[in-house]
Amino acid sequence: MTTRPTVPQSARAIMLPSMRLRLRAAGAATLAVLLGTAAVGADAIQDFLRRHWRPPLAPQGPPPARFSPLEASLHPEACGTCHSVQFADWRESTHAAATGPGLEGQLVEMFEGDPRSALGCLTCHAPLAEQSPLVAEGNEVRPNPAHDGSLRAKGVPCAGCHVRGHQRFGPPRRDGSLASGVPRQTLPHNGVTRTPAFLKSEFCGSCHQFAPDGFALNSKLLENTYNEWKASRFAREGVQCQDCHMPERRHLWRGIHDADMVRSGLTITAAAGAARYRPGDIAVVTLRVTSTRVGHAFPTYVTPRVVLSAELVDGAGQVLAGSRQEKIVGREVALDLSREAFDTRLRPGQSVTLVYRMKVPGPGMRARLAVVVEPDAFYVGFFETLLRQGAGRGEPQIRQALETARRSPFSVFERELPLS
Ligand code: HEC
Ligand code: HEC
Ligand code: HEC
Ligand code: HEC
Ligand code: HEC
Repeated sequence: MTTRPTVPQSARAIMLPSMRLRLRAAGAATLAVLLGTAAVGADAIQDFLRRHWRPPLAPQGPPPARFSPLEASLHPEACGTCHSVQFADWRESTHAAATGPGLEGQLVEMFEGDPRSALGCLTCHAPLAEQSPLVAEGNEVRPNPAHDGSLRAKGVPCAGCHVRGHQRFGPPRRDGSLASGVPRQTLPHNGVTRTPAFLKSEFCGSCHQFAPDGFALNSKLLENTYNEWKASRFAREGVQCQDCHMPERRHLWRGIHDADMVRSGLTITAAAGAARYRPGDIAVVTLRVTSTRVGHAFPTYVTPRVVLSAELVDGAGQVLAGSRQEKIVGREVALDLSREAFDTRLRPGQSVTLVYRMKVPGPGMRARLAVVVEPDAFYVGFFETLLRQGAGRGEPQIRQALETARRSPFSVFERELPLS
């Protein structure tokens, strides 16, 4: 990667590095290296995952003759007629929203100016061959004969994870068994091929981890979730991505956009150094956040940031001007990805402490402490820049994405400690 200008010529270029990496990761050899280091068990699992996630995914081809149109359909709604529980979960998930306005607004122009890059984005955001209008063949990019226009908006659909060549793949039964009790041809969609690969973190790694030679800043890959997990105590204890993100096999994949999920991973404490201070004293208050059940860096990606803050409020609830102090947890990168500004993310087990020292100006004072999560902090600046520089025909979608990003912050902790 060569150095990029400080202000992106085209803000669209900002996402390109991630995509280029992905194309490099696409080589079966690199993928093999990635999975090889995983060493989670049987070669059979690794072989399966290599085949299952070799990008770009192949078109499904013609369905078996005995399939009804419902069984042949790749649409999540079709699966949902028989699998209503998974469908109800999935439609609320970010996987269902993976072709939202933030992505599509960038793709409109990219498909014309740089279609290969656009195809690279789709390998993670809309993985089925049938979701792509174009297909790369050698040096050429042509219209995709297998394209189904109505599938594109489905993000990462059920079939993206579960269907190859119209065959269903899934996890072992909950009792661990693999074999089908009855002849498979007697079951809807000829039953299912069950493999423990669905229970492993490596299953998620194909989209949540860049290859070792991928785009890095400050010697750290831009997307490194699987490796962070692999280095954690959770990997040693056998706790997989699915155990935290798909409890009871739910299909919600809650993450940094969900307050309860974020709280589940943290232990947050607040304490004042003394029970009471007199006006003129220096009060000392500590706010501590420990990553106790996040299976990777908190947060794992470069786009969120978390703000610890403390300020003084008086008896009338007014904040005292100049009393606010903050500490930021996150990995902040320049909008053009030219450099990393800082990385204060918490590895599993690590803590951050805001030690707040402030002179108590009068009676009736309280310290107000808060932990606020801004899941799309990077995107607010990114989309603003993109709009300033001209988002072309993607502008309406980028505006919508900016609004969503601006509305995304939420609080996971608030407390007021009386000081006097
Ligand atoms: C006509 C109803 C029907 C439709 C449509 C359907 N399925 Fe199924 N599916 C079933 C039934 C019944 C089973 C149980 C088969 C068995 O016991 O082996 C099943 C099993 C599965 C399993 C394994 C579940 C388990 O218990 O471990 C997966 C995964 C699966 N289907 C995925 C899909 C996907 C993805 C789609 C859409 C592309 C889909 N199915 C469409 C009826 C359906
Ligand atoms: C085909 C690619 C793909 C696979 C496979 C995949 N993901 Fe994702 N995942 C994505 C994309 C793309 C997003 C971002 C969606 C968006 O918001 O646009 C995402 C988002 C998420 C999020 C939500 C992040 C947030 O912002 O809160 C979680 C959690 C997650 N995935 C977990 C998993 C787990 C666990 C697995 C394995 C069972 C998995 N994913 C498999 C592509 C994938
Ligand atoms: C290696 C898989 C991968 C590739 C390739 C990829 N992304 Fe993503 N993308 C993700 C994941 C995973 C997330 C969620 C980030 C997280 O929370 O870890 C995401 C999040 C996003 C988001 C924020 C969520 C949303 O939908 O608004 C945007 C925008 C985005 N990607 C755009 C792009 C663009 C544009 C490209 C191509 C230039 C691209 N991505 C290529 C995996 C990928
Ligand atoms: C990002 C990948 C992904 C997507 C998208 C996805 N699944 Fe799954 N699905 C999995 C994984 C992984 C498991 C196994 C989870 C576990 O056992 O912890 C699973 C399990 C299942 C099961 C077995 C449930 C059980 O109780 O035994 C069914 C049925 C299923 N999925 C259907 C669907 C349907 C229908 C959709 C779409 C509405 C869908 N899946 C979307 C990855 C995915
Ligand atoms: C021990 C539980 C645990 C495990 C294991 C775990 N996660 Fe998470 N994950 C969380 C919690 C809690 C959050 C919310 C806090 C956060 O965003 O870091 C989260 C957030 C995320 C996010 C949101 C984006 C972000 O920037 O934080 C993604 C994406 C994600 N996880 C993917 C994965 C993948 C992929 C794996 C497996 C390689 C995995 N997680 C393993 C608990 C876990």
